[in-house]
Amino acid sequence: MNHPLLIAVDGPAASGKGTIARALAAHFGLPHMDTGMLYRSVALALLRWGGDPASEFEAVRACKAGLVPPNDPELRSEIVGEVASRISGFSAVRAALLGRQGDFAGQESGAVLDGRDTGTVIAPHANAKLFVTASVEIRARRRFDELVACGKSVHFEEVLIDIRARDERDSTRADAPLVMAEDAMLLDTGKLSVDGSIAAAIALVDARLA
Ligand code: DC
Repeated sequence: MNHPLLIAVDGPAASGKGTIARALAAHFGLPHMDTGMLYRSVALALLRWGGDPASEFEAVRACKAGLVPPNDPELRSEIVGEVASRISGFSAVRAALLGRQGDFAGQESGAVLDGRDTGTVIAPHANAKLFVTASVEIRARRRFDELVACGKSVHFEEVLIDIRARDERDSTRADAPLVMAEDAMLLDTGKLSVDGSIAAAIALVDARLA
């Protein structure tokens, strides 16, 4: 029996990892999990219920709320991303979300997971690991353009400060920080188009599997 194909795609905010992971899933015919959505779902449940994002106890209580439907537009908001980054630093929150991600990674069909720790903690045994990144200025510019396209009035400097703060928090937390796994393949999307990034990701995975 062939081993199922498991692909882990990690990287910082606005690196393009989500787009790349979805495209890899479509290309290889695998189910896809955006693990950041789990943290966002907990963050949104906490905010809606009026909980304190600085309280580990309350964040863990929010983990017990059912998942917010993935099409809820608030999940993608900046404030939810910010709170998701804060509560993801709590070990008890990470532990509460571990089983769901491990089960997804263990499916017989194989899977693609994207996030901050899928190659290091959730699926260290993945057949192919990508670490998708771009300079902080390029990632902030992408996020700024997305926000402007949605009709939001924002300043580029503010977006840059937010992305820097998120990078710092996600990379320096004690539990499962954002780091490139030793056996991950680096993909810098800074100078690539969306289609170019996807083609490069497929080529890297194909090369790893060959
Ligand atoms: O990828 P994203 O912006 O949707 O993720 C939101 C936050 O969730 C991110 O800033 C850190 C946290 N996160 C995490 O700690 N581990 C993951 N595997 C995915 C996301």
